[in-house]
Amino acid sequence: MVSKGITILGASGSIGVSTLDVLARHPERFHVYALTAHSNVEKLFEQCQQFQPRYAVMVDPVAAAVLEKRLQAADSDVVVLAGAEALDAVASSPDTDYVMAAIVGAAGLLPALAAARAGKRVMLANKEALVMSGQLFIDAVREHGAELLPIDSEHNAVFQCLPSDGKNGVEKILLTASGGPFRTWAASDLHDITPEQAVAHPNWSMGQKISVDSATLMNKGLEVIEACWLFNLPAERVEVVVHPQSTIHSMVSYNDGSVLAQLGNPDMRTPIAYALGWPERLASGVAPLDLFTTARLDFERPDMARFPCLQLAYDAHTRGGYATIALNAANEVAVKAFLGREIGFTDIPLLVKDVMQQASAGTPMNLDDILIQDEESRARSVSWIKNKKIH
Ligand SMILES: NC(=O)c1ccc[n+]([C@@H]2O[C@H](COP(=O)([O-])OP(=O)(O)OC[C@H]3O[C@@H](n4cnc5c(N)ncnc54)[C@H](OP(=O)(O)O)[C@@H]3O)[C@@H](O)[C@H]2O)c1
Repeated sequence: MVSKGITILGASGSIGVSTLDVLARHPERFHVYALTAHSNVEKLFEQCQQFQPRYAVMVDPVAAAVLEKRLQAADSDVVVLAGAEALDAVASSPDTDYVMAAIVGAAGLLPALAAARAGKRVMLANKEALVMSGQLFIDAVREHGAELLPIDSEHNAVFQCLPSDGKNGVEKILLTASGGPFRTWAASDLHDITPEQAVAHPNWSMGQKISVDSATLMNKGLEVIEACWLFNLPAERVEVVVHPQSTIHSMVSYNDGSVLAQLGNPDMRTPIAYALGWPERLASGVAPLDLFTTARLDFERPDMARFPCLQLAYDAHTRGGYATIALNAANEVAVKAFLGREIGFTDIPLLVKDVMQQASAGTPMNLDDILIQDEESRARSVSWIKNKKIH
């Protein structure tokens, strides 16, 4: 068996750590080619010592210099690269076969696209990249013979439940949502939610941004858009079902009345192992599901009045690519401001709606158009926050 070279974009994050956990169980099948982070020297140093990649990339140059010194002092052969361009280089290198795209937010778009354009197996956790670039990303995958495998547990579940041609008899996709920590809260109580409460997800342990997105249901909104692109379906055929236990990770509904579901414990190592091994299955370290402990599977409709971000995402997708870029950019700025206590929890959808409505009509034709819309929407979001403070 030829060992596959792996690049992990966002190695120091929650998905990156879970990916390395799975890789460590299969040293004969995989070797780590490159690990990347923004500035978390401590984590990357520890990972470099354990996995001995050829390259370690730190986007922050100061952090890169610190990491290099520490590795040299430890007699390590790992080569440290600095800056965002180095992400593209390791993601598209002929020496890497698979790329885990697990940077959070828009910062992950360019390296994920570089991997697609280099014909890699792209294991996509970074949903924001696909929400921003849509057709451009899908075209890059097709034109360059890349493989696009979803890491989001919902999309990975759908991928597992779809027929081999991806469409025969498929009526719709049922994306499950836990509903987040505030599922049962009254609308009047949402205003005072603190960042600490918002990042405490009931079922999953994740990075801060996706945890807040799960609490606002923006995560599910981004996932609806992601599902439309991944599975080539209109938004009317992607339905969200709140399922508080997070045992069913999503379902596919067929024209003969069948509904196929994928179940498992809420642990990202399952979808990661599936993407690494596909079409084979690999041991992931996740315990098998005990249905007697699970006991109940509940389902509810999402409440888009209390959690307007989900509706905003459907609206953005209907309006077109510029609106989805604006939605994503405004949300990233809003979440950061919420975590920094500059705005409240219920300001997030207000900000996103205002900025999204100012987006150009239609769909961008190229990467420059995407990046310009992203930048403009971020600037509008920042001034929205400033003005709100003044009033
Ligand atoms: N966590 C989950 O269970 C889960 C599930 C499904 C999908 N996802 C998706 O996977 C992606 C990663 O999520 P996560 O929870 O793993 O996030 P996370 O724990 O916050 O990790 C983010 C990673 O991205 C790096 N990073 C941050 N800003 C960067 C920048 N400007 N340039 C380059 N790298 C940067 C971080 O480096 P530093 O550590 O140095 O800051 C870190 O390695 C997100 O798109 C999320 O929606 C996550």
